[in-house]
Amino acid sequence: MNPWATWLTTYGTARYQLSRKQGWHAFATAPARPPFDILTRPAMSRLSEEDLEDYNEARMVWNANLPTIKTSQLAAAYGICDQVMASAYRDGDKLRGSVVIDAEPGLGKTTIATRYARDFHRRVLRRDGPLTAEGHQRWPVAFIPLSAGVTLKGLNQQILRFYGHPAVDRASTSKLGALAVDCVTSCGTRLIVLDDLHFVDFRHRNGLEVSNHLKGLANDMAATFIYVGVNLTAKRFFDEGLLGEHTVYAQTSRRATRCPVAPFGIDTDTGMRGWLALLRTAEEHLVLADARAGMLCEHARLLHRRTQGRIASLTNLLDRISYLAIVTGVEAVTAELIATATVDNASESAARTG
Ligand SMILES: Nc1ncnc2c1ncn2[C@@H]1O[C@H](COP(=O)(O)OP(=O)(O)OP(=O)(O)O)[C@@H](O)[C@H]1O
Ligand SMILES: [Mg+2]
Repeated sequence: MNPWATWLTTYGTARYQLSRKQGWHAFATAPARPPFDILTRPAMSRLSEEDLEDYNEARMVWNANLPTIKTSQLAAAYGICDQVMASAYRDGDKLRGSVVIDAEPGLGKTTIATRYARDFHRRVLRRDGPLTAEGHQRWPVAFIPLSAGVTLKGLNQQILRFYGHPAVDRASTSKLGALAVDCVTSCGTRLIVLDDLHFVDFRHRNGLEVSNHLKGLANDMAATFIYVGVNLTAKRFFDEGLLGEHTVYAQTSRRATRCPVAPFGIDTDTGMRGWLALLRTAEEHLVLADARAGMLCEHARLLHRRTQGRIASLTNLLDRISYLAIVTGVEAVTAELIATATVDNASESAARTG
């Protein structure tokens, strides 16, 4: 086997199922992919057809997996999480606070929450070991993605599924909640990430039930919660669907700390510096024969226009540009390729009207 085929067997695209404890653990403990040398054009032309195919395949995997970049948005969000986690040192009989990562689509919310939780997972396992004092497996973090129209029962089932609890489809609705608390307690889970919380409609009876249940769970579980979702303020997560003067009774608002995530703006010097720093990191990452420093930064404004400074649109665009750079033999990022590559629907319409 050539070195790239060998590399691909271990470091090919990983299909983690984060919503199960084994998948989460595999993600949290996966080693970083080792880099490989960038071949020059003459070196590439000496490869056999199959070797070249494998080299290109390995480059596709590498290019599409940018390391998590410490953007100012990510650093600010980590700062908030760290502060809220300071209350996690409280004994289990006292309530902990929670973080709410609330922003528009595609700004890196899930990335922030999963990377923060991953670091925490590793740290706790390193310090406290794989087993709890009672001999249970320790799972410091639970990752619970929600789906559309989630109900109270669905939420509890999703928690039990994470832990692989056998009663998930059998237990009665009232029993499910207690089992979920048992799992969290016996596995020593200290951080729970609930992703895509915008699927809960807080103005609807089902949603209010979920919201109240979440408060109940926060009371019963000695864990800190990170809630993640799109436009949660507008969806009335904080005031729990209450209207007018009743909103003062909303407990969630007192217990939660909101963590906004903004797109990159380039109208100020600081904004432009942040955008350039992001592009520079991405530029250094790409494995292309004619890659050079500045090939992305020189097109900072064009890239911003095409993506509106949204990191998800940028990473999608870069995947496509680097794919095109490989298959067309351009082997670098150029203005033509940036203009040719298609972007997601939202970016496309915003770029047209903006
Ligand atoms: N700090 C980062 N460094 C590198 N890439 C990032 C970073 N943040 C986000 N990304 C990229 O942007 C993509 C979208 O990010 P993510 O899924 O976290 O956004 P989101 O706000 O949760 O989106 P959605 O609203 O669709 O759930 C990721 O797949 C990743 O490629
Ligand atoms: Mg997300």
